[in-house]
Amino acid sequence: MKKIENFIARSESNYEQLYKKSIENPSEFWNNIAETFYWKKKWDKTLDYDFNKPEFKWFVNGKLNITENCLDRHLIENPKKTAILFEPNDPNEKSQKISYEELHKRVCVFANVLKSKNVSKGDRVCIYMPMVPELTVAVLACARIGAVHSVVFAGFSSTALAARINDAKCKVLLTADGSFRGPKVIDLISIANHALVDCESIESTIVLKRIGSEISLKPKQTWWHNEILEVTHECPSEEMDSEDMLFILYTSGSTGKPKGMVHSCGGYMIYSAYTFLNVFQYRPKDIYWCTADIGWITGHSYIVYGPLLSGATTVMFEGVPSFPDFSRFWNIIEKHKITHFYTAPTAIRALAKHSVSLVDSNDLSSLKVLGTVGEPINEEAWNWYDKNIGKSKCPIVDTWWQTETGGIMLSSLAGVTKDKPTFATKPMIGIQPVLLNNDGKETSSKNGEGILAIKYPWPSIARTIYGDHDRYKNIYFSAYPGYYFPGDGALTDNEGNYRITGRVDDVVIVSGHNLGTAPIEDAINLHPNVVESAVVGYPHDIKGNALRAFVILLNDKIEIDMENEIKNLISKTIGPIAKPDVVQIVSGLPKTRSGKIMRRILRKIASGEKENFGDISTLLNPEIVQEILEKS
Ligand code: PRX
Repeated sequence: MKKIENFIARSESNYEQLYKKSIENPSEFWNNIAETFYWKKKWDKTLDYDFNKPEFKWFVNGKLNITENCLDRHLIENPKKTAILFEPNDPNEKSQKISYEELHKRVCVFANVLKSKNVSKGDRVCIYMPMVPELTVAVLACARIGAVHSVVFAGFSSTALAARINDAKCKVLLTADGSFRGPKVIDLISIANHALVDCESIESTIVLKRIGSEISLKPKQTWWHNEILEVTHECPSEEMDSEDMLFILYTSGSTGKPKGMVHSCGGYMIYSAYTFLNVFQYRPKDIYWCTADIGWITGHSYIVYGPLLSGATTVMFEGVPSFPDFSRFWNIIEKHKITHFYTAPTAIRALAKHSVSLVDSNDLSSLKVLGTVGEPINEEAWNWYDKNIGKSKCPIVDTWWQTETGGIMLSSLAGVTKDKPTFATKPMIGIQPVLLNNDGKETSSKNGEGILAIKYPWPSIARTIYGDHDRYKNIYFSAYPGYYFPGDGALTDNEGNYRITGRVDDVVIVSGHNLGTAPIEDAINLHPNVVESAVVGYPHDIKGNALRAFVILLNDKIEIDMENEIKNLISKTIGPIAKPDVVQIVSGLPKTRSGKIMRRILRKIASGEKENFGDISTLLNPEIVQEILEKS
């Protein structure tokens, strides 16, 4: 078997060579990478694709089971190595180390439980659980028997849960009696029960006891701890076709009905592992921590699959960064000697608001690599992260990708290729990004600006939207035929580094000038009294569109001066054209549970709407909408 190590870039020139090979002969390149994994049967052809249908088939007719690669193969080399390092919500509860051997056993046991509930290959299983090791066990147990997992973030409401269960017609629901989130206890089972009233497809629900509350289960519900006593721990892995579905994951759904993105077994396996090793430069003794929730794609690819496929130690954290206080992340880094820390800009900004003494009282010297994901990172937050967390010695990988892409698409490779504040920098090996102008023509790859598109398939591209292939085609492949269209804008510097300027739908044309809202926010955020901001466009009689900025201040007592200060700062940093007409000081911004600002609502407020904000039930802080309205 070939060794993946031979295909990991360890120097800039190495990256360039590998990149060149991956573009000149993608089939040969990915063939080599795929040969470093265990397959039950080798594929006949590396790639078959058609951007018009659209259809993407990787490793055609190859047979595999991803859990063999995540678990079984490590049992030969290193069975005692810690696979999952679990840090509970309560710092006084003991952390847990689960070896590969133990994880394999637990996965096989739970796979047999699923079988006992009549779950078989192709059936959908909904997982609505806290960030505890059993969540990973559940995910892998599905994959073991070829069931399709659909993890729903355990912060979603019952309506959102029911919509997702029904869309995928899930047969089984896995949940818990409750979950701990900082000082709060969330009554997961009640939310699940509420959802289940409308979910006819669910035949059984298995409930993990996490908080230990005295509840009685309803018919067709059983306890996890009882179920696992009824089965053996031997469970051969199901033979899956490369293109069989591995999972469905719903995107945040900032607009419209949530989209159930479908990922398949072979390509996703190859790409999540390959990007993990290249981007993070993980080495065997490292302790890697991604703070995302497994309810999002980041958790799927870079807590579960990428790390476990690579035989890594992956940390699962149940809690929140603010509990028991804002030093929790830094305590955990010291406690477990974390080497790799991967988080979201929104978390960085929130933590940067607090005294740096909360950071400095911890020993962060184990850190080697920092990462960010999920939204553009503003320069101020990047610098704070670099200086205070990385002590100016850790590379920062700013990873751009999406639920739809399955894995990282643009990023520097830690310590191998150069990072640059606010730039996701270069394409991953095998990825062919381009910038398109409004007419859909490719523009220059240096000092360019436009719509980001990808012109060649990669192994983990989502194959469809569950149950709605037309919608998949319309959203991602119709606007610019022959390309995958992610919906983001980008620019490049004179070295071809990419910077994401924000969603294309957030680009506002003011007096004929194309203005990305992200750089304006960056400018505002440079002000020392600004914590966070959001800029949106709204219709304007003369200019076509005007801009409104919503700004959270560190100290709102100097609000009166701030509006002008901010306008002047934007004028100075970008130009007078980018000056918002209105600057509104707010105490918070409407955010989805994954931390994204719901701009759709801000755009409506800016446009003078007083109601009709659509579904705001998935907001983390729905009350802020009224507050902003009242003060606008
Ligand atoms: O707009 C981009 C932004 O998040 C979108 C994808 O969101 P989601 O599917 O929820 O996946 C998030 C985690 C991979 C993208 O279209 N985004 C993601 N990463 C970055 C980013 N924007 C700028 N810089 C990033 N590093």
